[in-house]
Amino acid sequence: MSDMSKTHSPDALRESEARFRSVFESATDAIVLADGHGTITSWNRRAQAIFGYEEREALGKPLTILMPPRHRIRHGDGLARYRDGSSEGPVIGRTLELEGIRKDGTEFPIELSVAVWQTAAGPHFSGIIRDITQRKRAEEELMSSYEQLRALSMRLETVRENERGSVAHAVQEELGQALSALRIDIDWLGKRIASPHVRPDELKQRLVAMSGLVDTAIARARRIASDLRPGVLDELGLVPALEWQARHFQERNLIRCRVADETRGTTIDRATSAHLFRITEECLANVARHSGAHVVDVLLRRENGRIVLEVKDDGSGISQRVFQSPSSLGLLGVRERSRLMGGEARIETRPSGGASVIVSVPIAAGTTSAGKPRAEEHVQEPGGSE
Ligand SMILES: Nc1ncnc2c1ncn2[C@@H]1O[C@H](COP(=O)(O)OP(=O)(O)O)[C@@H](O)[C@H]1O
Ligand SMILES: [Mg+2]
Repeated sequence: MSDMSKTHSPDALRESEARFRSVFESATDAIVLADGHGTITSWNRRAQAIFGYEEREALGKPLTILMPPRHRIRHGDGLARYRDGSSEGPVIGRTLELEGIRKDGTEFPIELSVAVWQTAAGPHFSGIIRDITQRKRAEEELMSSYEQLRALSMRLETVRENERGSVAHAVQEELGQALSALRIDIDWLGKRIASPHVRPDELKQRLVAMSGLVDTAIARARRIASDLRPGVLDELGLVPALEWQARHFQERNLIRCRVADETRGTTIDRATSAHLFRITEECLANVARHSGAHVVDVLLRRENGRIVLEVKDDGSGISQRVFQSPSSLGLLGVRERSRLMGGEARIETRPSGGASVIVSVPIAAGTTSAGKPRAEEHVQEPGGSE
């Protein structure tokens, strides 16, 4: 009995009301209460922030002002069925993702959870509403980057498959042919040597020709191997490998290609070197295929503790839209490789024409696993701006 009088005492009621108000107004989600007819009876500060209606505008209005028109009929039917007892209210007690509409008419995604309680005047509803615009956007970005990566990995698979095909072709056509020719020569020699009419000068001539074939085969084997992985990269390091690549590019495409090294002797680790080498390869292939350039510069420099690689041409330029496009898989590969090194890639298009793809990676990418920078990181360079 004393308990009953306590809960119903005016003090206890006031205290309970204050407690409710405090929670209601400080909630980080919108809280909207409505009667059994769907008329708004309470409206907290967060609801005002999200939907744009002030409390005095919202109170007494139907809940439908918060919904895009296409949801309104279903909402009305659902409420009516709940009131006449023919439905248990399928939305009650669940969390739903829906769309809301602001006072200014803009739609946005919401997460809604509805509860119900009974009063003498009939059922009453509470809706807790969260604006999930940010979360949706993040989800979409994640999905789209996932799809991009999937497309990239499919393309890499195709590229790899094509590479295998062309290696097989090169081995078969170039090495295979030289070896078959040698085989014929060897058979011929075998027969000639056994013959009573053998002539030393004739044998010698044939041997010189065979020696030439062997040289050709060796040169072809080297070329095939170095197309697979340029030995200079491991043996001599990134800059000579880039110079080698530039020379080949220039010979094949008749586009002038220059390399400038301003890293002042910074050692670049193996993995970073391999990435930068492949990035240059992709950029140069693009210059040959798309730019119409006459000259391309490959610039490697050290800037604010980073290694910066710039592939700069004097061709038609690349638009930001094309650079960001999910279908630009070669450029996406460049961005992904940069990210793998803890760096980033961007483009610049000059008003005078021409594009630069600029990749910047921290030198610290080559530090030991203990996180200790290599000694050279501490060296203050004379006249250095770092
Ligand atoms: N150096 C460049 N000059 C002009 N346009 C370029 C250059 N590099 C790339 N592009 C443009 O960017 C697009 C995307 O390049 P990329 O992602 O490598 O794909 P792909 O080379 O397979 O077309 C190219 O189709 C081309 O339109
Ligand atoms: Mg390309």
